[in-house]
Amino acid sequence: MRLLLLADPSEDKVRSYLPRSKCFVASCGGVVVGACVVQPLGAAAYELMSIAIQPAHQKSGYGAALLQWVIDFFRKSGASQIEVGTGTFGYQLAFYQRQGFRVTAIDHDFFVKNYPEPIFEDGIQLFDMLRLTLRYTGSVA
Ligand SMILES: CC(C)(COP(=O)(O)OP(=O)(O)OC[C@H]1O[C@@H](n2cnc3c(N)ncnc32)[C@H](O)[C@@H]1OP(=O)(O)O)[C@@H](O)C(=O)NCCC(=O)NCCS
Repeated sequence: MRLLLLADPSEDKVRSYLPRSKCFVASCGGVVVGACVVQPLGAAAYELMSIAIQPAHQKSGYGAALLQWVIDFFRKSGASQIEVGTGTFGYQLAFYQRQGFRVTAIDHDFFVKNYPEPIFEDGIQLFDMLRLTLRYTGSVA
């Protein structure tokens, strides 16, 4: 949970989607260094709800490796697409787009409407959520 709260500050929200989700972990020398949670949306579509790497292990390639592994897992499972919601600025945007995610929608005021406290990153308040989608080419769905 400590790891997942790095990506989503609301423990209630995390607990709400965990029971229907798959959770993947990245480990190094038997120690868990990262986690990624993906929930089904129906019709071969999935949503990446959370991905986080322990702060001491960030910027070492674990996040990209875990995301790539999860993308490949769902490709092999016959998925048609994976979505993710993220803020409108910050390195996370490049992190997802580097793996093939494209911006497909904007959810205006998402972070204001869905969280009791304002959320800041790099000193800037988060208001809107960008929806990004990775569509698997060659999928039948
Ligand atoms: C997002 C996250 C999972 C990426 O994992 P990671 O292991 O740190 O990322 P990687 O080492 O694989 O690096 C991927 C790229 O992101 C960049 N990056 C990672 N953390 C960064 C940071 N804090 N600031 C700037 N760039 C960063 C890396 O430099 C790298 O870019 P490069 O290939 O051009 O060098 C991780 O930083 C994290 O847990 N962040 C906090 C939780 C979070 O924001 N989750 C996503 C919610 S939308």
